[in-house]
Amino acid sequence: MKVLVTGGAGFIGSNFIFYMREKHPDYELVCLDKLTYAGNLETLEAVMDEPGFQFVRADIADREAVYTVFEAEKPDIVVNFAAESHVDRSIENPSVFLETNVMGTQVLLDACRKYGIQRYHQVSTDEVYGDLPLDRPDLFFTEETPLHTSSPYSASKASADLLCHAYYRTYELPVTISRCSNNYGPYQFPEKLIPLMIANALADKPLPVYGEGLNVRDWLYVEDHCAAIDLILEKGQVGRVYNVGGHNEMRNIDIVRRILSILGKPESLIDHVTDRKGHDMRYAIDPSRIHGELGWLPETRFDDGIQKTVGWYLEHCAWWKNIINGDYQDYYERMYSGR
Ligand code: NAD
Ligand code: DAU
Repeated sequence: MKVLVTGGAGFIGSNFIFYMREKHPDYELVCLDKLTYAGNLETLEAVMDEPGFQFVRADIADREAVYTVFEAEKPDIVVNFAAESHVDRSIENPSVFLETNVMGTQVLLDACRKYGIQRYHQVSTDEVYGDLPLDRPDLFFTEETPLHTSSPYSASKASADLLCHAYYRTYELPVTISRCSNNYGPYQFPEKLIPLMIANALADKPLPVYGEGLNVRDWLYVEDHCAAIDLILEKGQVGRVYNVGGHNEMRNIDIVRRILSILGKPESLIDHVTDRKGHDMRYAIDPSRIHGELGWLPETRFDDGIQKTVGWYLEHCAWWKNIINGDYQDYYERMYSGR
């Protein structure tokens, strides 16, 4: 079996590559990644020269480059992680989100049609459902919840999902889609909440909490997401959407306090800053389908996962310090100074 993993030099894609090498050592893996600011070859160092693994630098929106890879590699399965993934960046500049997340997905779908594959899996997000109110804890996103996006990022991801469905319905392309909640774990780019707060706390810098920090996210350890995708590839029904989440809703402010407490840093570092535009209030996944049909359940409890994650960032300072030098400083300045 040969699996093409697009976006495999990013956070979840790299964790998926490590997961699949462990779980299916006989599979060949080809990672296709553009290496944007979020892609990092250092992450893949351990597998780079291993047999059964190959890396190709390419843009999923570059039709010629993608067709060349399909022609040469003839993958059986494609798992598409490649995306612009940060909501704040999409608010600043939506164009590249449409280019990669929508047009890039279309190029991959066309390549799958042209060269033939056993499965195309689209890694989507719970953000396509919009948000839920804080005063209705009884409500959850199911696969039937209407798409109702808030940010340019989520609009681009929802567009890609619709394209995937259209290619299934019109051309009978064997497509599956997973919509997962917020992931955390090793190798997450430090622009995202958890690694950003760990990095700032370690440097005794202010921790920028948007608004009052009452927004709720449903946190899942990244390895549990990887296991869910693997299961969908093995047993999932073609044409189907699977929501992935572990009923682990937490307010941002409580996450930030937990990180401070693990690191033994004072809560006086918390800095309430101007809220994100169009900020979604609450995400909460109903994972009944993937549990009932495929038997998936998350394995990592948040208490263990967050300890492991903070420990990982402490042990791998060089990995994230390399990233937060350079261009990231300009981004941080633009995003947070005077906020
Ligand atoms: P990430 O930003 O860490 O990584 C994205 C990767 O895609 C990077 O390696 C980047 O270089 C690559 N990439 C970007 N544009 C590309 C292009 N045009 N061609 C080829 N490669 C390109 O993202 P992540 O957090 O690992 O998210 C991966 C996927 O999972 C995304 O599709 C995202 O929407 C989805 N998702 C993320 C979360 C989360 O909590 N992080 C939750 C649910 C779904
Ligand atoms: O739900 C899945 C989504 O989760 C994925 O589709 C996205 O790719 C991923 O980035 C994530 O989106 P969020 O916007 O929820 O994640 P982020 O880490 O950016 O923010 C989490 C919450 O923390 C959100 O309510 C905004 C808040 N926040 C974030 C940052 C970066 C802060 O309060 N301060 C910050 O500095």
